[in-house]
Amino acid sequence: MAKVSFRNVWKKYGTTPAVKDLNIECPDGSFLSILGPSGCGKSSTMRMVAGLEHITAGQILFDEKPINTLAPKDRDVAMVFENYALYPHKSVFENMANPLKLRGQDATVIKDRVMAAAKLLEISQLLERRPQELSGGQKQRVAIGRAIVREPNLFLFDEPIAHLDAKLRAHMRGEIKHLQRTLGTTMIYVTHDQLEAMSMADTIAVMHEGELQQLGTPREVYNKPVNAWVAGFVGEPAMNFVDVGLQDKDGKTYFIHPNFSIAVTDQQQHIIAAAARVNALRMGVRPDAMSISLVKPKHECITGKIFVTELLGGDMIIDVDLDDGSRIRVKTSTDFDGVEGQTCYMTVNRDKWHAFSKENGKALF
Ligand SMILES: Nc1ncnc2c1ncn2[C@@H]1O[C@H](COP(=O)(O)OP(=O)(O)OP(=O)(O)O)[C@@H](O)[C@H]1O
Ligand SMILES: [Mg+2]
Repeated sequence: MAKVSFRNVWKKYGTTPAVKDLNIECPDGSFLSILGPSGCGKSSTMRMVAGLEHITAGQILFDEKPINTLAPKDRDVAMVFENYALYPHKSVFENMANPLKLRGQDATVIKDRVMAAAKLLEISQLLERRPQELSGGQKQRVAIGRAIVREPNLFLFDEPIAHLDAKLRAHMRGEIKHLQRTLGTTMIYVTHDQLEAMSMADTIAVMHEGELQQLGTPREVYNKPVNAWVAGFVGEPAMNFVDVGLQDKDGKTYFIHPNFSIAVTDQQQHIIAAAARVNALRMGVRPDAMSISLVKPKHECITGKIFVTELLGGDMIIDVDLDDGSRIRVKTSTDFDGVEGQTCYMTVNRDKWHAFSKENGKALF
């Protein structure tokens, strides 16, 4: 087991930076997910940890020992990639045994470890088969089995289930999380799928254009995004953003928009007052932090026009047009019977809305 630390880590290809000044501490035995869109530097980060890519600047440490110059084979990490790279002519058993064979392990140790891993992954009945006789999910489990028989210090999983179908992905999410908890091995897990990161990780590192945006628990990243980019990336359906002006009236501060005028809470008012000279903000509100009605409520609300309604199994998503050309999405129950073109009224849970700077996207609350 190992604690993994990134200290001011840079990766440049030529002069182009792919990872910029990365600082992360991943405690021993924890599950860290690196989350971000394609090209943000996730695999580059993993490859530096594995020793497959030179670290341009900074240090990566295992248990406080720098590993920058250590050969990949001496780092004791096991990687699982999206393309599981199984040997087609070897059986499942031989595929899983291979890393131990290469290390000259004793045949009985090899057998014990492969059998134990196969049992854990529920593939004991497949050990004699060849990879082409397996489903995608089964192949993925063999690839994971091959990683765990090594009993490494650290697992590096790079989008290991990205191409499986949705149902199998949901199943494998649970399996991998359970496996990591059972083995207690430190895990760095790369994904571009926020649902995967949210559901599995102890800590999420959100990356964008080579830079760490936020490091926090899934709850922190979801409930207290540090900027509009993180807020928009994490959560499905995505957060709604609307530009608002600010107005002070009778000692209260209001968000002003052609479709609404809603007072912020006292605490939010203090935060806005402390931010020098702002007169406009970007309001952010998640689809489930609003309720929608066809009857105008007595309290302050957002008035809009229904653009379209979508049934999503147990929920409904209502797309609502506002007069400034923006469109917001509201999650509601399937009882809602509004139709296209109808006027509707949204009540916002003000404890759950957010405000971001229009200049730099930083969160005020
Ligand atoms: N060997 C390389 N030479 C030059 N540029 C590279 C190389 N590998 C990656 N890059 C560039 O570095 C950036 C980060 O790439 P990286 O593979 O780390 O992204 P990623 O987050 O893993 O993306 P994806 O989700 O698509 O796998 C990209 O702009 C990519 O084009
Ligand atoms: Mg990648």
